[in-house]
Amino acid sequence: AVVDKIRENRGLDHLEITVGIDKYLYAMRFSDETLRDIMARFRREMENGLGGDTNPTATVKMLPTFVRSIPDGSEKGDFIALDLGGSNFRILRVKVSHEKKQTVQMESQIYETPEDIIHGSGSRLFDHVAECLGDFMEKQKIKDKKLPVGFTFSFPCAHSKLDEAVLLTWTKRFKASGVEGMDVVKLLNKAIKKRGVNIMAVVNDTVGTMMTCGFDDQRCEVGIIIGTGTNACYMEELRHIDMVEGDEGRMCINTEWGAFGDDGTLEDIRTEFDREIDRGSLNPGKQLFEKMVSGMYMGELVRLILVKMAKEGLLFEGRITPELLTKGKFETKHVSAIEKSKEGLTKAKEILTRLGVEPSEDDCIAVQHVCAIVSFRSANLIAATLGAILTRLKDNKNSPRLRTTVGIDGSLYKMHPQYSRRLHKTVRRLVPESDVRFLLSESGSGKGAAMVTAWASRLTQYRHM
Ligand code: GLC
Repeated sequence: AVVDKIRENRGLDHLEITVGIDKYLYAMRFSDETLRDIMARFRREMENGLGGDTNPTATVKMLPTFVRSIPDGSEKGDFIALDLGGSNFRILRVKVSHEKKQTVQMESQIYETPEDIIHGSGSRLFDHVAECLGDFMEKQKIKDKKLPVGFTFSFPCAHSKLDEAVLLTWTKRFKASGVEGMDVVKLLNKAIKKRGVNIMAVVNDTVGTMMTCGFDDQRCEVGIIIGTGTNACYMEELRHIDMVEGDEGRMCINTEWGAFGDDGTLEDIRTEFDREIDRGSLNPGKQLFEKMVSGMYMGELVRLILVKMAKEGLLFEGRITPELLTKGKFETKHVSAIEKSKEGLTKAKEILTRLGVEPSEDDCIAVQHVCAIVSFRSANLIAATLGAILTRLKDNKNSPRLRTTVGIDGSLYKMHPQYSRRLHKTVRRLVPESDVRFLLSESGSGKGAAMVTAWASRLTQYRHM
């Protein structure tokens, strides 16, 4: 009936509109019972990825990273860190010194990675990285210093040691040819050889984030990214990792949770909008969980919903413009702007006006609520998968309560006005037997990559002794 009222455009109050949208998008709103069920499913996926027999066919890959501990405070030196695969390509110089206490100094620069380079040939991509590195070394006046390089590469890679990383598959916006199945360290070293530097370690951005936060908080044992893509890593007991020899101590596992659902496990909660996003993506059928939650897709999900509602006459008096119909015209940063508590509705008006749909006040309220449902769904789903990791950590420690720190980074988490609060709240509700501290990685994953590099270069120094 409420939907009918919207259709007839009769004056509705705020609550009536949001209740109407709630009903319309009921498939995107989950009860705690459903979230607990998803948590249990993800827990099983983790077990499949860790087990020797089940790993080869597992959807969630649970990749060993060969990172065995968080920073212990003894790391030092002067490093370069490359950060490729997030919303920006960055190069950093990280100096870690030890006068009285460990201190870190960082300088960084962002470089463009144009579409034709990330969709061209792999050798061109790595040549581009090498050129930017050359420019950076020149500007920093470190051309002759031969500093060790750490590489944050935000894609699923199989490691057999720290300085080897075979790209399993591209995700997100990247699709350069001739790189899948190859060791990216070899490819990159070839491209940067003439700069006189060498890659010492490759880490996923989740691992870089965990290490960055671990520098400030020794309790940190989980790293999460909620940005262009989404993923998490955590410290697992080595005795549970069938794919790596040894039983003592722990190793960081890169879960690659973005692929959760690729075998059909999430079909019951995927909607027509999720399927449409997937069909139009660079990697259909892959990263289905990521496509429901991360920043690269969230704005587009909202746009698809608005198009459908407009077509049914539920929004904009049925006006549909070419802009509204254009893929990518509604971005995740718009979702963040529209959900701001004070100026959100004004932002909605601005953004929708730019799309040419001439929104009424009611339209703005309705669109704001659509954004809230989509971003809430994202935070809820991440709370469920994170909840599974937390309960696993708790069980590993054999303790009734878990006290831990989660390092987090990513543009969506940082920019969205309500996201972090909602995520924290839901996690605490789903895993009541935990005291979780969420630590935002202020400096990205570069510091963490340098920590791993420090460790790796110390190892090679010992080897040469
Ligand atoms: C994608 C990548 C993963 C990365 C994440 C966040 O899911 O596959 O490796 O950590 O995006 O950048």
